Formats: sequence, C-alpha cells, structure tokens
Amino acid sequence: MANNIVGILLAGGRGTRLYPLTKNTSKQLLSIYNKPLIYYPLSTLMLAGIRKILIISTKEDINNYKSLLGDGSQYNCDFHYKVQEKPDGIGSAFILGEKFIGKDNVFLILGDNIFHGDDFIKILRESINNFKSNTIFGYYVQNPNEYGVIQFENNEIVDIVEKPLNYVSNYAVPGIYLYDSSVINIAKSIGFSSRGEREITDINKYYLSQKKLNYKLLSRGISWLDTGTFQNMNIASNYVMTLEERQGLMIGAIEEIAFRMNFIKKNEYIKIIDEMPNCDYKNKLLTSIDN
Ligand code: DAU
Repeated sequence: MANNIVGILLAGGRGTRLYPLTKNTSKQLLSIYNKPLIYYPLSTLMLAGIRKILIISTKEDINNYKSLLGDGSQYNCDFHYKVQEKPDGIGSAFILGEKFIGKDNVFLILGDNIFHGDDFIKILRESINNFKSNTIFGYYVQNPNEYGVIQFENNEIVDIVEKPLNYVSNYAVPGIYLYDSSVINIAKSIGFSSRGEREITDINKYYLSQKKLNYKLLSRGISWLDTGTFQNMNIASNYVMTLEERQGLMIGAIEEIAFRMNFIKKNEYIKIIDEMPNCDYKNKLLTSIDN
C-alpha cells in the first residue's frame, strides 16, 4: 500500500524585502487581493487531497496563524503548528517536522508560492498518488537566476544550481517538493550553506547524486506567481482579481475547497459561511453553495 502523505507549509522567514509591511507581521499573512497569502498554498495542499498539515512560522507570528486557521477541524483537516526559531533554511522544515512526518511521504510548499490551473492539481495528485520517487517540478521563467535552476542533458537533470550567476536554463524549481521520509535524515546530513541555510537545493542535489530524483515540468498553461516584491504582490493580486471578477468564483478560498473536496458536508459549509461577518468574501462563498 502507498504511504500516507502529509503536508508542510513553510511560512516563516523575515520578509525583509517587503519592509515596512513585514515590520510587525508575517509576509504570508499579507493580502493577495481578498485573502491572506497563506490561503493560496494552503488551498493547493487541500486540493491535492492533503489534510494533515504542519504550518511552520516564527515564534512572533505562529499565534496569528493559529487564530487565523485553527486546528483545521472546521474543514475536517488536521492542522499542526511548529516554531522555526531562526530562518536557517527551507531544509530545516523536515527536521522540525520529523515527528509529524514519521514514515509518511511529505509534500512541502513554500508559503509565498501561488499556483493556479487545472492541470496543476492533476499533476500534483498524480505525483502524490503514484509516488515513485522524490519529485521536484520545473517551470519555464524569463528570470531563472532568482531561483533554483535545473540543468538538463537529454531530458535528464544533471545539476540544480541555486540562483546561478551564469545562464543554466530557463527552468526554475518552484516551491513545491515531494519526498519520502528519508528526507528527514538527508536534511540533517547536508549541513549549512555559506549563507547559513539548510538549502533545499542541496537536498535535491543529494537525491540527484543517488539517482533518486524525479522531475515533472509544469506547462505554460499553469500559473506560478511570485510574491517576493511589492510589484509581484500587486501582479498576483491583479491576477486573482481579474479571474474572480470575471467568473464570480474564488481562487484559494479554503472553506469552499473543503466543501468541493467533500471534506465537509453542505450543512457544515453553510454554518462556516453563516458565522462570517457580512462581506464580499461571504457573498462569494454564498453564491458558490449551489454552483
Ligand atoms: O520560490 C522558489 C524558490 O524558493 C526556489 O526556486 C529556490 O530554490 C529556493 O531556495 C527558494 O528560494 P527563495 O530565495 O525564494 O527562498 P526564500 O529564502 O525567499 O524563502 C522562501 C519562503 O520560505 C519564504 O516564504 C520564507 C520561507 N522560509 C525561508 C527560509 C530560508 C522560512 O519559512 N524559513 C526559512 O528558514
């Protein structure tokens, strides 16, 4: 039988590039159009069918996430929380999540990554349900040097370079990663980079050296939005607004996703909506009940 899958949502970091917005709050709590940024990666996990989720953030911010999202039971999910004392790398998530992961497979999503597109969820579900090997994803961008970048030869990965100074390829590695539980020990063994972080790229390079790294490309019909700068936050907000105003349907509404995924029943969904103050978000959820 396939192993269970758990999710980790990494929502720590200092968000210094977004100062002063992040002076007294966490980046992933800032708004992208009509909802907090964290709703989008959380909805990705839920749409992938993942209900047991560990949310990692700083000690200053963790309680804000708890009060925003609760223990997940209202969505028939199971949310756990863990503090990352200092931002010592994405790879640390697996060490912080050691007990939480246990022997399960784990899907990590970075809390500032927004994905959208039907095929995307199909690809994720396929990768999770038919888990064969540790998997990273590739996405064609025009500014690859801002990311981990995949070098290919004959359609095989031969290297992954973190923020390369020279051109490697246009295929960036988005902030979604799928591993078996061996990642806990690999994360412990890789050590720290010169910038003092347990680099996710070093974990992937280790699996690559062991021939245990698979990849899937995300096609151009899928949107992967960056939220690292003020400009990109605005672009992402406008993207969500454009689609939502055109369709009257929401992107990343976790309550609706819990309903559509059959995590909760219609009467439970209505109860969640009823408890909200009158607002545009509530009105949109109301129209979704029978659509
Ligand atoms: O977005 C995809 C990219 O994410 C990948 O292509 C890169 O390979 C990967 O290293 C990472 O690059 P970034 O420079 O964007 O990582 P950043 O330090 O900005 O962290 C990404 C998110 O993870 C951000 O929301 C903060 C959170 N984070 C980061 C670190 C280092 C933590 O919660 N704790 C941490 O220790």
